[in-house]
Amino acid sequence: MSNIAILAGDGIGPEVMTEAKKVLNTIAEQFNITINTKDYDVGGAAIDRHGNALPEATMQGCQQADAILFGSVGGPKWASLPPTEQPERCALLGLRGHFDLFCNMRPATLQPALSSLSTLRSDISEQGFDVLIIRELTGDIYFGEPKGRKGEGDDETGFDSMFYSRREIKRIAHLAFQAAQKRNNKVTSVDKANVLATSQLWRQVVEEVAVDYPQVTLEHLYVDNAAMQLVRDPNQFDVMLCPNLFGDILSDICAMITGSMGLLPSASLNADGFGMYEPAGGSAPDIAGKGIANPIAQILSAALMLRYSLNQDNAAQCIENAVASALDKGILTADLLPAEQKHNAKSTSEVGDYICQTIKQQIM
Ligand code: NAD
Ligand code: IPM
Ligand code: MN
Repeated sequence: MSNIAILAGDGIGPEVMTEAKKVLNTIAEQFNITINTKDYDVGGAAIDRHGNALPEATMQGCQQADAILFGSVGGPKWASLPPTEQPERCALLGLRGHFDLFCNMRPATLQPALSSLSTLRSDISEQGFDVLIIRELTGDIYFGEPKGRKGEGDDETGFDSMFYSRREIKRIAHLAFQAAQKRNNKVTSVDKANVLATSQLWRQVVEEVAVDYPQVTLEHLYVDNAAMQLVRDPNQFDVMLCPNLFGDILSDICAMITGSMGLLPSASLNADGFGMYEPAGGSAPDIAGKGIANPIAQILSAALMLRYSLNQDNAAQCIENAVASALDKGILTADLLPAEQKHNAKSTSEVGDYICQTIKQQIM
């Protein structure tokens, strides 16, 4: 029996979470496993109800759970609150920091058969790609202190501190090399070592860790070049090892070249294997409330949860197959269709229903 804390959050979060819960129920039925889900308020929704983006009851529910399935938080309504009270900083970074979820994995794949979904030119997308972004998630300029604003008028300054310790770099680098060993034995480490001291340490420590993995090829790329190379030829990459900020930016590129921001799931794990699972995209205020958001990133995040936290690899694979089938059969939300075909778009719940049906058919 597994207990899952469900934190749907804001914007499209609750819409796509409804579909992920449907999928989890279907999986529980078909695989005869017990998955107890319990909903907790988080983000702007929690500010509106309780005056706090990460209420104590939510934190306790997460502490007692076997894993957290997270939607997305934030939106214009809460963007002018003091920074530490905002949904992103207080709730999302709060949870990542509290549980020390330093290892964020964002797998971005494009099957050649689905290359028409990609925003890349067809001769590039036809090659397909399979990139795993491993993003350090609890350090860097996100968490470094001091951070803030001081002074007045034209003398006012805003400042953030970029820090990495040798320990932080080592632990994420080991995980990247270990992941590469199970894949195509290549790690591309991303930094800005031509400018940043944190990146110079990053590069040196990654080199040192690489010695333990002689069968894995290591290359280093500056982040600006890495962004360009992802768009030029993503098929050259296997594992991309990124500091927090660069991994954030590169993962949005990775999402889009697979077809949509709404396709990219992620797993955020700590050293004990405890995990929070969330789409790489956000609350998408521009499409929230319309029933048109793509639920696949949330559904694939639930699959990662089954694989990494509940040890249910077959169930995870079954969801991934059903998602591949939806994409293959053209059961697509509007984000995946060109303008002239948007009238054929399926709704969020139609895509979720198709995936549930396909899971049942696979098991029968
Ligand atoms: P966003 O990822 O929410 O949206 C960027 C674009 O991608 C939008 O056009 C949106 O419609 C589209 N998109 C994203 N997910 C989609 C989906 N599932 N289906 C179809 N289209 C999708 O980024 P943003 O607009 O910069 O941020 C909006 C809010 O979300 C901000 O408050 C931001 O801080 C927050 N955010 C939260 C998380 C999180 O909670 N994990 C992640 C990223 C951004
Ligand atoms: C993500 C998001 C978050 C991040 C924001 C909302 C704090 O963009 O998960 O990619 O930058 O990590
Ligand atoms: Mn992001």
